[in-house]
Parts: sequence; structure tokens; C-alpha cells
Amino acid sequence: MFLIISINRVMLIHLLKNEHLKDKMQLFDNIKGLQHAVSAAKHRQMKLGFVPTMGALHKGHLSLVELARKENDLVVVSIFVNPTQFNNADDLKNYPRTLDADLEILKELNPHLVFAPTVVEIYPAQGITVPAVKLGLLERTMEGKHRPGHFNGVVQVVARLFDIVHPDRAYFGSKDFQQLAVIREMTRQLNLPIEIRSGETIRDADGLAMSSRNILLSRQEREDAANISKALFYVRDNWKNKNATDLCAEAVSRIEKNGLMKVEYLELADSTTLDPIYDFDQSTVPRVFTAVQVGKVRLIDNVGIVKGEN
Ligand code: PAJ
Repeated sequence: MFLIISINRVMLIHLLKNEHLKDKMQLFDNIKGLQHAVSAAKHRQMKLGFVPTMGALHKGHLSLVELARKENDLVVVSIFVNPTQFNNADDLKNYPRTLDADLEILKELNPHLVFAPTVVEIYPAQGITVPAVKLGLLERTMEGKHRPGHFNGVVQVVARLFDIVHPDRAYFGSKDFQQLAVIREMTRQLNLPIEIRSGETIRDADGLAMSSRNILLSRQEREDAANISKALFYVRDNWKNKNATDLCAEAVSRIEKNGLMKVEYLELADSTTLDPIYDFDQSTVPRVFTAVQVGKVRLIDNVGIVKGEN
């Protein structure tokens, strides 16, 4: 009897998994509609993968959607330019918003649910609870130090999105390595039953890490910006032969050589703790991180030194 019931159950789940929920992409701008679809999926025991984005989608985002599709039954992509993580009003104003083009691109990959909410949907007038997460060093170093309040905004919106979507797995790019560390720490401190998965940095042919902000660069700036990743690869390829401080200083001058770019920081830090590294030693797994001002556009990138992750 039990066997018959369980076979039927497996068959039923199989049938339901292939039903309309997966057939075509559905767009939601409100929480209620999305949650309705999400709970239908959960009811069918589908595993849910979630890819949060701010839109202006490129192949970096799409690689995360592809990974999520491979690993889950149903994929939710969110598109929301989160005002609370911008510490610069002009940056928020100029951030590219290309929803129609994004939806066209997503159609090809066919994630199942797309959530593109308004600001009041995410931040209603009555307010939302902001989780108390202590970021420690993560908010005092590199991006945390140079963009005060940025990671509080990221924590706020990602916690809110997690609470709406309830994914089994969520996907973030190593391109924003420190953000990935922040999300992992948040998930740990809040005991969220969500597996945080990471995807490698996708680059243009000349090595520039893909970023939504790249379309804001002039032709000349775009050309020069290739020197950012080249300098990071130079650090990776020479770390055994040179003193770490000299090597970083050399990398900075390689980026700044044409006078179009200004390095905000270029630092070595441990891949797990993000503790700064001043000298190479065996006990650390270093990465090199940089933030660079290219005209009005601020770009970040990082590269693994020992394991050679891009
Ligand atoms: P956004 O910059 O749109 O990035 C969305 C996701 O795509 C992030 O996890 C980011 O690390 C990843 N990504 C960006 N460029 C990439 C590249 N070249 N290769 C691989 N992955 C890349 O990061 C955010 O949005 C926001 O802070 C967000 C997490 C959505 C919260 O608002």
C-alpha cells in the first residue's frame, strides 16, 4: 500500500513539475502575484533558485540564471534598482534602467518567474523590519569603507527579497566578491535555510568584467578600462617573484598610466576572511581587489591569486 502511494506521489510530482508553471516566463510587479506562483511551486515540492539583479542585464547576470536553471526546478529573477544601497545620488539617477530590453534577453533563457517591483512595493510607507546583521570587517574594508552604508542597503534589500521569494538557493557573482561575503554572513547570522551559490566573473573579450555600468563609458574610457583586469592579472601572474606592496603599486600605475582612470583602492585580501594581506604567505588564499573611477563611472573587479579564479 505504502509503495503504491509513494510511486503515485512521485509520478504526480513529476507531472505537476512539467505543468504550466514551467512553460513560459511570467512577469510580476507585485508581491502578491509572485508569492501566489511561488507557493504553487513550493506546494509541488519544486526547488526554487533565485537570481537577484538590478537589471541592465548582461552575460554575467545570464550566467547566474543559467546556473540556477541547471540546479533548480523553478527560477525567479528579480529586477530592482535598490535606492538604499546607493551612497551617491548621481549614481542612482544615472544607473541604467532597461526593463524592456531585459525582458527580451530573459525570454531567451526563459527563467520561470520575473519579479520587477516598484520601490513602494519593496519599501512600503509603513516601513519594513531591517534585520540586525553585524558585518564587522566587511563594512570597514574596501567597498564597505569606500561606500558607507552600501552594504546595509544590500542586506536590507536582499533580506526583503529572500523573505518574499523564499528560495532554496540564491545566486551571486564573484564579480562582487565582497557582496557575496556579506550575503553569506547575513544568511549565516539570520539562520536562513538558503544555499548561497556563486558564479564566476564573466568578462568581455579584452578582459573587462561585464557590468551594467560599462554602457555609461565613453568609447575611449571603455578602451582604457581593459587595463583594470590586465593589471589584476599582472598581480596574479607575478606574485611569486615580487614584493606584494611593490606589485600593487605597479598595478595602480598600470591602471592610471593613460590619465583617464583613478584607482580608489587596490588591495590584497584573504578570500575567506577579507583580512588585508600585506605579504604573501602560505596560510592565506589571496585575492586582489580594486575600485577604479573611470570618468564619472566607478568600476570594481577582483581576481583570485593562488587558485587562479578569474
Ligand atoms: P547587479 O549589479 O545587477 O548584479 C546582480 C548579480 O550579478 C550579482 O550577484 C553580481 O555579482 C552578478 N554579476 C554582475 N556582473 C557580473 C559578471 N561580470 N559576471 C558574473 N556575475 C556578475 O549586485 C547587485 O545587482 C545588487 O547589489 C543586488 C544583489 C541585486 C541587490 O540589490
